[in-house]
Amino acid sequence: MDERVTVAEPIIGEEERENVDHVLDSGRFLQGPYVKAFEDKWADFVGVDHAVAVTNGTTAIQLALNALGLQPGDEVIVPSLTFGSTATAVVHQAGVPVFADIDAETYTLDHTDLERCLSDRTEAILPVHLYGHPAEMDEIVSFARKHDLAVVEDAAQAHGARYRGSVVGSIGDVGCFSFYATKNITTGEGGIVTTDDTDLAERIRLLRSHGMETRDNHIDLGYNYRMSELNGAIGTEQIDRLSGFNQRRRAISERLFDELADVEWLTPATVRPYVEHAYFWAPFEIDTDAIGKTGKDVWRDLDERGVETRHRYTEPLYKQPVFQEHRGFNSDFPWSENPRDHAYDLELETVEQVAGNMIGLPNHPSLTDEEVARVVSVVQEYGT
Ligand SMILES: Cc1ncc(COP(=O)(O)O)c(C=O)c1O
Repeated sequence: MDERVTVAEPIIGEEERENVDHVLDSGRFLQGPYVKAFEDKWADFVGVDHAVAVTNGTTAIQLALNALGLQPGDEVIVPSLTFGSTATAVVHQAGVPVFADIDAETYTLDHTDLERCLSDRTEAILPVHLYGHPAEMDEIVSFARKHDLAVVEDAAQAHGARYRGSVVGSIGDVGCFSFYATKNITTGEGGIVTTDDTDLAERIRLLRSHGMETRDNHIDLGYNYRMSELNGAIGTEQIDRLSGFNQRRRAISERLFDELADVEWLTPATVRPYVEHAYFWAPFEIDTDAIGKTGKDVWRDLDERGVETRHRYTEPLYKQPVFQEHRGFNSDFPWSENPRDHAYDLELETVEQVAGNMIGLPNHPSLTDEEVARVVSVVQEYGT
């Protein structure tokens, strides 16, 4: 029997292993020269003045919102199809996520829904470059500027994606990345915040390390969100591999889009002509009526045929119990200051149609051409 085709695999080389050994031998695990080198390379790569490494993508978003001055009860507009922590990070900062609908072709935040989401408590927009496709940044930034809002890019899934030539993470006021194990590059766990704003970067550095100005002087309510030197030691090497990884992801994804174009129950995601997709996913939308099965059935059936896929996000984020029931802080979300009703009794048109029907086919750089061919034939045969 053929081996399974996996959907994601971290690729760790000799250089990463040597660096990690070096850190282990040195006994210096605290954020140090490797983390600094990783930050410098990442800032360069994104094209910003500052990159601040942190523990993960979620804490990156938290620190960005905190440093931008989010107050309890302030609202942040987020898309309703994304990983949970895009929105829970807002709540952790005592802010209120306000859910926008998504674009029917790229599945990113629908900028035409921003007006509906706006209130006098809105402070920021948090677009997500979902599956690696950049959100519609020109419209989002111009709306934000008109209403004096900050823009925080959630670029967790979009390492190296470009929007009209600019690398994501350099377009809004702040960019946030995740280096979780399945991402285009990984540090094990990890995250980074990017910005051109020196004051903001300094504040994020302060908050990342207990709000301590000096060892015994806690000048703000900070956290320990530092990246460890072990993770930095991996990151400094992974970044050098990113462009090569992305080229291979792109080649595989385009081949899948091309060779599966005639499968009537499967539609490849649209890639707008003015973007460079990072292909975190090779995303397809399932026509559940055409195949007569749910997205979950397809995911399970392909898995049984030896092809792992991604199947997310299965429902609009506002339907999750944490938001429906305002679970948090061991009581209720801290929103008493906010005059708006946030019962989240939403039924947003596009996300309701799309959620549960997205599937990501295997496209990671270590797949062989034979494995990609097997994915194509398994998908083509399925449902015929
Ligand atoms: C869109 C998005 N935002 C935020 C995150 C959070 O990143 P992390 O898992 O590193 O906390 C992820 C991670 O999966 C993500 O996909």
